Amino acid sequence: DWTMGAFRAEAIARIRDQVGEGRVVCGLSGGVDSAVAAALIHQAIGERLTCIFVDHGLMRAGEAEEVVATFRDRFNIRLVHRDASDLFLGALRGVTDPEEKRKTVGRLFVEVFEEEQRRLGGADFLAQGTLYPDVIESVSATGGPSVTIKSHHNVGGLPERMRMRLVEPLRELFKDEVRALGRELGLPEGIVGRHPFPGPGLAIRIPGEVTREKADLLRKVDAIFLEEIRAAGLYDAIWQAFAVLLPVRTVGVMGDQRTYDHACALRAVTSTDGMTADVYPFDMGFLTRVANRIVNEVRGVNRVTYDITSKPPGTIEWE
Ligand code: XMP
Repeated sequence: DWTMGAFRAEAIARIRDQVGEGRVVCGLSGGVDSAVAAALIHQAIGERLTCIFVDHGLMRAGEAEEVVATFRDRFNIRLVHRDASDLFLGALRGVTDPEEKRKTVGRLFVEVFEEEQRRLGGADFLAQGTLYPDVIESVSATGGPSVTIKSHHNVGGLPERMRMRLVEPLRELFKDEVRALGRELGLPEGIVGRHPFPGPGLAIRIPGEVTREKADLLRKVDAIFLEEIRAAGLYDAIWQAFAVLLPVRTVGVMGDQRTYDHACALRAVTSTDGMTADVYPFDMGFLTRVANRIVNEVRGVNRVTYDITSKPPGTIEWE
């Protein structure tokens, strides 16, 4: 008779056992996995956990604020919030190749994380929100021929040289179990039920060069799309929904004025693990409502398209 309550108690005991009197640092990304790992470890060892949130400035609207409000203010978890958006956006200047964007964000993330970690005076353990599918994937990645489609960056991707022992309390769990555990720990639904978000953030949803202006524009478009999805009660039926800002400007008409602005694409898919995905079949009324709101409310975007590619052959993200 296996319940989340029992798992939680066991996991807490195991963390205490492993960590002893040691100190743990945990990278928070705003995503479900790192959030649940942090909340669980905090219940086990309290003040001896410090979370580091490296804010790359490429999060969705309101997300950075929610991380701080939840972890520092509500859960009283020791949290270092480092606003590194200037650093990341500066490094991304002129970078247009998707893999180079991923590597740039990944490399800087590690640098900033290490810097903050040193500032804290070091720690004995590094906590990661590694899930069972991540464990499987990294094992299968070494057996047999494979092609790297995209080099993943996430808060679990810290390098060997950090030489800290790992605390990975979610290693046996699947995503839906992690969500159940998060609810058991009292994390807000906004975090527990949140769609997955890639480590490189909006950088890989802005084909071409990433700038602060484009990221701001994309955040507005994305927020409208998600707001309408929530209002229609569709959020939980969808694996991931987001907007992509296209590096194309098109001609439009607004009132009696000619416009020449960005086009954007909307993407929404269903999936169980992200490995394959189907397009979410919105009805036309929903899509045209969203398109009208975007064009009317976001200056700088005058055309909206809906991506109807499944995975495979498309990937979920555009880069
Ligand atoms: P693709 O685009 O390869 O994405 O179909 C599959 C799933 O993985 C997410 N994704 C990432 N997650 N770091 C992450 O933590 C990354 O670098 C990354 N790239 C893609 C993507 O959002 C989808 O859920």
